[in-house]
Amino acid sequence: MDKAHDTNFHMTPEEFRRRGKEVIDWIADYYEKIESYPVMSRVKPGEIRASLPQNAPEEGESFGAMLQDVEKLILPGIMHWQSPNFFAYFPSNNSFASILGDLLSSGLGVQGMLWGTSPACTELETHVLDWLVEMLGLPQKFRSSSAGGGVIQDTASSSALCALLAARERATNYESNERGCDGRLIAYTSSQAHSSIEKATKIAGLGRENLRLIDVDEKFAMRPDALAAQIERDLDAGRVPCFVCATIGTTSSNAIDPVRQVAGICREHGVWLHVDAAMSGTAALCPELRWTHDGVDLADSYCFNPHKWMFTNFDCDCFYVADRAALIKTLSVLPEYLRNEATESGAVIDYRDWHIPLGRRFRALKLWFVIRHYGVKGLQHHVRRHVELARQFASWVNADADFELAAPAPLNLVCFRHRGGDAVNQAIMDRLNQSGDLFLTHTRLNGRLTLRLSIGQTRTELRNVERAWARIREEAQAQSATGKAASIRRS
Ligand SMILES: Cc1ncc(COP(=O)(O)O)c(C=O)c1O
Repeated sequence: MDKAHDTNFHMTPEEFRRRGKEVIDWIADYYEKIESYPVMSRVKPGEIRASLPQNAPEEGESFGAMLQDVEKLILPGIMHWQSPNFFAYFPSNNSFASILGDLLSSGLGVQGMLWGTSPACTELETHVLDWLVEMLGLPQKFRSSSAGGGVIQDTASSSALCALLAARERATNYESNERGCDGRLIAYTSSQAHSSIEKATKIAGLGRENLRLIDVDEKFAMRPDALAAQIERDLDAGRVPCFVCATIGTTSSNAIDPVRQVAGICREHGVWLHVDAAMSGTAALCPELRWTHDGVDLADSYCFNPHKWMFTNFDCDCFYVADRAALIKTLSVLPEYLRNEATESGAVIDYRDWHIPLGRRFRALKLWFVIRHYGVKGLQHHVRRHVELARQFASWVNADADFELAAPAPLNLVCFRHRGGDAVNQAIMDRLNQSGDLFLTHTRLNGRLTLRLSIGQTRTELRNVERAWARIREEAQAQSATGKAASIRRS
């Protein structure tokens, strides 16, 4: 702790410079040795808190002590999401370019609620989101030069909520904002959609009972005929269908809803179509994978998360609307203390009206760094690599008589199971995760416990996937041996 710290309590720029370098070194070291940590934290509930002092310190402490405690007290409670042996959930990958962009954003400390509160924060965001329209082959109506546009949200959950709110208002001529919902509005999504859609219907005041979960086909994709029939039933009952969420890449099995057919039904009934491509949207960077996005040109809104599969650290969700006026009219409230000349001129975007919070971080900076560092080619390279690794893994599963694929694997998620049943699969997963060698999670498909191998970490290589498969088979054989031993003992 230096002198200035003693007098005004602040860290001096000199100390910041020194400590900042130490932190960067610490992070670089962490990535160099990340595979030496067990991927899943092994601490017990309450263990981390028990290691922390009961009360906050009265006197400021040295930075060195803090960094030491990160290593000693915090690291054991970290799930190593950035490990190349992390195959769980969906990825939440990042990159050094993104970390540095985020650091600069923290350094600048900008709060970009209005264009005027940091013009660069707004304009860079608009610009980068326009770039992404071209990069992903999204429809031109999502560009800021059209009636639509894009904005960075914290998460896909927030995007879905904003889309639903705008849909609710469009369907009620902006009356629900004034008087609340009357219980007649209905939303639709598939039985495989992410839980954030259910949460959105609760928050938006439609009520969970007014969310229809539409049946899926054998590939776990929404059945358009079932959607159309349900909408007809609701109309007959005097309800008001207002919102459909189609998914490109469901969380459970990466199923891809038939967006074009769903969009046709939405158009027929004037229903808002939101497309949730939270993880799989990144695939559209590669022209040969854009078939996954067929029909997005007919959507009212769309989102994908660079914080899942595009090397941009959490949080960063890109949300696009075809008609920004509907979104802004839904969310805009302008108190006197935010009035300013630029806003009044109508010549600028004020992103505060495009999402729930007023305040907003300068998230475009990290996204800009990622895109500039990798270039489109670099990003495509990694997406293709992950998809190829998933294909290889799926081919190994297919070729093994003890295992089966549980769903198609169109991109970077492989759903598979041991033929021995739920208990065997559960035991395989538990033992693998406890070993710390890798981490994977499960789902249930057609009522059966299914393992998911999700490939998308920045540094995952063929050797990691090969080792994962070898470990999975090893644990499967151990289970078979235990099962046989048990049946011999029983007989
Ligand atoms: C398809 C889908 N939608 C939405 C979400 C929610 O993402 P977020 O954490 O950005 O809200 C997920 C998360 O995995 C997802 O897979």
